[in-house]
Amino acid sequence: MEKSHLYIELYENLKQQIIEGQYQSGDKFPSKRALGQHLSVSNTTIEHAYQFLLDEGYIYSKPRSGYFVSDIETLPIVKKNHEQLKASSLDIPTSNRYNDQSYQYAFNLSEIDAEYFPMQQFRKYARDVFEDNQLSLLQHTNPKGEWSLRQEIAHYLFNSRGVTCHPEQIIIGSSTEQLINLITDILSNEQFIIENPSYPPIKQVLDKKRIPYIQTPVTKTGIDLNYFRKTDHNIAYVTPSHQFPTGYVMNLKKRTQLINWAHQSEFKYIIEDDYDSEFRYFGKPIPALQSLDTKDKVIYISTFSKSLFPSCRIAYLVLPKTLLNQYNQLKNKEGNTVPAHLQKIVANFMASGSFERHLNKMRKVYSRKLKFILEKLKPYEDQLQIDGALAGMHFTLTVKNGYSMNQCLKNTEDNQLKITPFYHYDHNQSSVKFILGFGGIPFSQLEDHTNALIQSLCL
Ligand SMILES: Cc1ncc(COP(=O)(O)O)c(C=O)c1O
Repeated sequence: MEKSHLYIELYENLKQQIIEGQYQSGDKFPSKRALGQHLSVSNTTIEHAYQFLLDEGYIYSKPRSGYFVSDIETLPIVKKNHEQLKASSLDIPTSNRYNDQSYQYAFNLSEIDAEYFPMQQFRKYARDVFEDNQLSLLQHTNPKGEWSLRQEIAHYLFNSRGVTCHPEQIIIGSSTEQLINLITDILSNEQFIIENPSYPPIKQVLDKKRIPYIQTPVTKTGIDLNYFRKTDHNIAYVTPSHQFPTGYVMNLKKRTQLINWAHQSEFKYIIEDDYDSEFRYFGKPIPALQSLDTKDKVIYISTFSKSLFPSCRIAYLVLPKTLLNQYNQLKNKEGNTVPAHLQKIVANFMASGSFERHLNKMRKVYSRKLKFILEKLKPYEDQLQIDGALAGMHFTLTVKNGYSMNQCLKNTEDNQLKITPFYHYDHNQSSVKFILGFGGIPFSQLEDHTNALIQSLCL
């Protein structure tokens, strides 16, 4: 241990002795001078170590009497000692750990290419936020989120997706799931229509809250609207820009039909989850449903998980004006869950134009990666069918050469390759189909990844 950290080591040791009961509550603690002499350490080292113990409440001082050990039962931090912490971390099953390193090649779904993130600029905005000496940063924010970020999101949505809204309509949350949960609080007596297959957290929210829903098949042009005529369920959750998990894009005709469906009743609404719309590589951009709607029937949701980075945990929703009142009247509203400084950093990043530049760059990066993979797989097109590869950071791959799922999984295991079977999202899926994320694979490893795929799935 470095000399400068001696006081930390001393503080840790003394703290441990207190936690382990070597000192009882009320016991007199050695004087600083006596301990310093005993251990042959400087006064400053002892001073610092004691100050930590005092600050954290392990000991207290009595004027002219010295230091005494506190009643540590009352200290919440003591409840878990180091051994317990070690044991509980060992209990975590391997499959729940993030950044699973056990495969050499992985087409993970939720990763972005972090190498291209403009960390230096982001750091500058982070520094600025704290250097501004804004003490208001330390207070609770508006439950809807920081005004500056909501303003930037409103500008951005208008320019990039044609979404028109006032910042008042925007609510920031930590995840899409959390915002869906909020929407179900805002709407009452709702019955959902969701895509089949669909983004798993949607079902989880509905199941947890016992909200009735039906699942409607997804075709190559988007959710099958024939089912809408046969039900009086009133809230449709869709991912029109790049359906999750199939990757299909809803065509314009269906978008218009869906909006017309919502116009039939004041209780009908569409939730449009536009989670990766920033990345469309082929064909003309298709406008957001929200931008086509004239009657305030679309609740728009998106996230920074793909466009910035997934750990920032910022998602947002645009509430139709007609639902603002219901939101305002909600009792026991949760406080905003995204740290204010992070919201301000992202707002500054957007206001400076850095976000737009970053997106333009990443669109090219992901497009090049996708084209590279598709090009490499082209000679195998009679064996592998690719779908959903027009946008986003994932596509699906169906094996048509007679290999069974078991055979494919054995081959991928042998080749140290991790890919996700599509049946994880669609239990009725009988074809040998996989869903592959490519965003996080560095360029330098793309060829090896694709070779491992070919070796595993092709004859
Ligand atoms: C359909 C859909 N919505 C939203 C997200 C992102 O959610 P979050 O904002 O919670 O990261 C994803 C991520 O893959 C998704 O597939």
